[in-house]
Amino acid sequence: MTLQIAQVNAVEILDSRACPTLAVTLTTNDGTRTRAGVPSGASTGSREAVELRDGDQSRYRGQGVLGAVGHVNDEIAQALAGHTFASAADVDRTLIELDGTDTKHRLGANALVGVSLAAWHLEAALAGTELWQHLAHSAGTEPRLPVPHFNVVNGGAHATNDLDFQEFMLAPLGAPSLAEAVRAGAEVYAQLRARLAAEGHATGLGDEGGFAPAIDRPEDVLQLLVDAITDAGYTPGRDGVAIALDPAASEFRQPDGLYRVAGQALSSDQLIDRYEAIIDRFPVWSIEDGLAEDDWPGWVRMTERLGDRVQIMGDDIFVTNPAIITEAISKKIANSALIKVNQIGTVTETLDAMRICREADYTQMVSHRSGETDDAFIADLVVGTGSGQIKSGAPARGERVAKYNRLIEITAAHPSLPYSLAAS
Ligand code: PGA
Ligand code: ZN
Repeated sequence: MTLQIAQVNAVEILDSRACPTLAVTLTTNDGTRTRAGVPSGASTGSREAVELRDGDQSRYRGQGVLGAVGHVNDEIAQALAGHTFASAADVDRTLIELDGTDTKHRLGANALVGVSLAAWHLEAALAGTELWQHLAHSAGTEPRLPVPHFNVVNGGAHATNDLDFQEFMLAPLGAPSLAEAVRAGAEVYAQLRARLAAEGHATGLGDEGGFAPAIDRPEDVLQLLVDAITDAGYTPGRDGVAIALDPAASEFRQPDGLYRVAGQALSSDQLIDRYEAIIDRFPVWSIEDGLAEDDWPGWVRMTERLGDRVQIMGDDIFVTNPAIITEAISKKIANSALIKVNQIGTVTETLDAMRICREADYTQMVSHRSGETDDAFIADLVVGTGSGQIKSGAPARGERVAKYNRLIEITAAHPSLPYSLAAS
C-alpha cells in the first residue's frame, strides 16, 4: 500500500489555553481526508524539539503560529502533494530531511507533528483499519488498553496557586476494566471537589482540569486525595486507587541548585528523602520528574534508592528522544519514560523511543500536553503500542476527556482487548 497525498493544508486554531496552534488536514485524490490538532506544553524540557512561534508581539503576545502554518502550506505541501510515499514512516523521514535540523526549529516541530499525525491517520484510513490497529501492525506490538492516570490537583506551571508539585494523579490500578477505571477517576474527582468545598478551598481548575486549591505542602494534597478516594468508596493503594506524582522538578529548581518546596530549600538528596517519606506514608506508586532534567547524578541516586519501590519516570529529562533515553538507560537513570509525540516531532521517532524503552524493560506512559486540542491520537497510540499507561489530565474538560472517551469507545467495540499495565 502506498500513500498518495493530493493536498496538505494547515490553519491556525486555538488550543485549550487560548493559545494558537495548528490543525493539519491531508487529502487524497479519492477524497479521503484526515485531520490532526497539535498539542503544546508549558513546563517543557529544554531539549524538546522546538515549536515555531511567530514572535510578532502585535498578535497573540508573540505566540502566533502563522510561520509554521505557512511552512506546512508551502514547503511541506510542495514536498508531499502529488508525490507517492511507501508509508507514513516514509512521510516522517521526508519531513525530518526537509527540516534538516536536529531540533526541528527550521520548519517547526509543531508543523511537523501536525503533518506526521495526519499522515499516520491517513495510512490507517487507506488500510481500512482503526488507527490503533494500524499502529500495532507497524510497531509489531500487542494492543492493550492502558491504566488511565487522572491529574486531579494542578500546581506548578499549570496553576496560579503556591503548590510547587505540578501534578497529583489518581491511578486506579485495582480497577478491573478501563471503563471501571474511568468511573473511579470521575467518582473520586467528584468527592474531591466536595471535600475541597467543605474545607473552604476554591474549586477552580488548572490547565489540565484538576483543582487548583491554595495549598502549598504536597503532603496536605496527598492526604486530601486519600480521603477523597475513601469517600468515593475505593481503597487507597495498588489494589484500589493509587496515586502518581509529577512534581516537574525542573520548574522549582533554583539557580543555586536547591529545590524549593513549600518554602523550604532542599538539596537533591533531601528531596529524595522527602519522596521516601511520602512513599512510606501515602499510596504513591509512580514519580515522574522527581528531580530536574540536568540533575543526572541526582537521578542515579533517586533510581538506586526508590526504583525498587516505585516507578521512576523521566519526562523533561528524556523528552521522548531515542538518543537521550538510550544514554540514560546506560547510566541506570529511571525505570520508566513519559512519551509525548511533540517532544520529538514525528510519530516514527516516538515509536522508536517506545521500542527502546520496551527493549530495556522500562515502562512507558503516553501523555497529552497541558495545552491540548480535541485530537485523540494519543489514545490510539497507547492502545496500539500496548504501553499500559496514559495520562490525559482530569476526567473533566473536553480536550482531556476526548482521549478517555476514545479509549472507552475502543474497549466497547473490542471487549476482548486486554486491560492492564504493561508486563514489564
Ligand atoms: P506540559 O506538562 O505539557 O506543560 O509539559 C505535562 C508534563 O509535565 O508532564
Ligand atoms: Zn511531566
